[in-house]
Amino acid sequence: MLTIDLRKYPQPRIRHHTNPQVYLPRHQLHVVPPSYPPCIERLDWHHLFSDGRPPTIVDIGCGMGRFLLSYALNHPEQNILGIEVRKPAADWITTVINGEGIKNAAALWYSVANGLPFLDDASVEMVTYFFPDPWFKKRHIKRRAFTPALVAEIYRILRPDGALYLMTDVPMVDEYQREILHQHGGFSIEEVHSDDEWFAERTDQELFCLSKGIPYVRLRCRKR
Ligand SMILES: C[S@@+](CC[C@H](N)C(=O)[O-])C[C@H]1O[C@@H](n2cnc3c(N)ncnc32)[C@H](O)[C@@H]1O
Repeated sequence: MLTIDLRKYPQPRIRHHTNPQVYLPRHQLHVVPPSYPPCIERLDWHHLFSDGRPPTIVDIGCGMGRFLLSYALNHPEQNILGIEVRKPAADWITTVINGEGIKNAAALWYSVANGLPFLDDASVEMVTYFFPDPWFKKRHIKRRAFTPALVAEIYRILRPDGALYLMTDVPMVDEYQREILHQHGGFSIEEVHSDDEWFAERTDQELFCLSKGIPYVRLRCRKR
């Protein structure tokens, strides 16, 4: 449960999707729109976390940050980095983090289509990617963030005992992601049914699914 009173932080109106080009790697674009997030090569963790250490957990596509904020409050000894392509969402989470004086959470405006070069090899314990945008139409699938290149990046940054955690309520996305993971071959995939073996923190989309009785799949993909 998130214990922050979010009414203190009026949320801006945020569109479901932003400029379609931000979902593609920058090097594929002929003209880079001004709304394209910065391509970050290195980060100084002292600017993001009070202990100056890199994150132990990375939440890709953190949305409005419910999971990120709850996790940070429940695990003050860990640093959590959220990555979000929609600037107003990343900015709003940063306002909440600053307003609440949270020292171990940060939200980065960035497109993971450009990899994760600012995270060192074998440095992260957990990567989460919860309820990715499904991009149902065939011609839009190239906008899905979960690509063989991203999976290779996740594998690179995970510690030997680390794991990638996935949730989706869209069966075709689940199938697509499992196929990419199988092709990579570096993960052992387990479906998690018991809440006891999962995070206590919830995402906004997860709460929506729970409230509507929409089933969803939870996968733990341990690095082999
Ligand atoms: C359906 S929302 C889910 C948000 C949150 N994880 C949840 O479960 O409530 C998917 C999120 O992924 C973000 N996203 C999509 N593509 C991305 C990319 N290439 N880089 C970073 N974030 C991305 C979207 O902007 C959106 O906030």
